[in-house]
Amino acid sequence: MNAQLPVVGAIGELRRYVGARRAAGERIGLVPTMGALHAGHLSLVEAARRAADRVVVTVFVNPAQFGPNEDFARYPRTLAADVEKLSAVAADLVFAPPVEEIYPPGFATKVVLEGPAVAELEDRFRPTHFSGVATVVTKLLNQAQADVAVFGEKDYQQLLVIKRLARDLDIATEIVGAPTLREADGLAMSSRNVYLSREERARATALHGALKDAAQRIADGQDIGAATAEARVALAKAGFDVDYLEARHAETLAPVASRDQGPMRLLAAATLGATRLIDNIAVAS
Ligand code: PAJ
Repeated sequence: MNAQLPVVGAIGELRRYVGARRAAGERIGLVPTMGALHAGHLSLVEAARRAADRVVVTVFVNPAQFGPNEDFARYPRTLAADVEKLSAVAADLVFAPPVEEIYPPGFATKVVLEGPAVAELEDRFRPTHFSGVATVVTKLLNQAQADVAVFGEKDYQQLLVIKRLARDLDIATEIVGAPTLREADGLAMSSRNVYLSREERARATALHGALKDAAQRIADGQDIGAATAEARVALAKAGFDVDYLEARHAETLAPVASRDQGPMRLLAAATLGATRLIDNIAVAS
């Protein structure tokens, strides 16, 4: 572990670090994560570094955003390796609090969401997820008092929920989105890809493939409903159990029926074996 990169677990230590750096006139960038870091996360650190003088990375597997039958207990926890990777990309501080630091006894507050959080996409299949995300992200933004915080487009609905919540709750931190990093075959990098067997991993590329094909067909003028239906069939053929694959307005997530309704995004979630994957892609206008 690199002794140059401090790892703190107390909110007070995080605040002291950020307070001192800001008092020295520096801009602070924040990258919230649940750890099990891959190159996609590290690209967010690099984006934060371009927008700020110091980069704080949080590593916290947030119990509040996992449903009762989800993978909280088996979510990969690899802090030592994460810290190594973060030193290699020159992050300045890691905030890795224990659960009691974030949710002390008596904790009783939740952020309630509408707008992009009730779009019948992830929220339909994970009904308590975004409230858990929004509650922890509100806390992390309040704790860190960063100038800018970077989130991935990989979790596109989450990015819109966080942008909306920062606006609605007058959080001064600027929320910035960063593009999805992919493996060579197109599979979006994810901490959950480690759950895939070798055989599933080979088939998993179909998720990006189906989205890319549908986006191209829609950009070429094909009917949106037909293109998304074909993409769902292609995924089922590759062995996926499809939760949704839909065309939505890229800013509001409202359903779209034609290309003249504004910028469009295709979003999908599908399960391969025991592993649920999500991905999304812009439709060229
Ligand atoms: P986690 O899944 O660890 O992701 C942390 C950040 O990395 C998120 O902003 C996510 O969108 C981004 N990310 C994940 N895969 C990526 C990829 N392939 N390319 C680029 N960015 C990628 O998302 C969460 O954690 C949590 O919900 C969190 C926001 C930390 C709240 O607990």
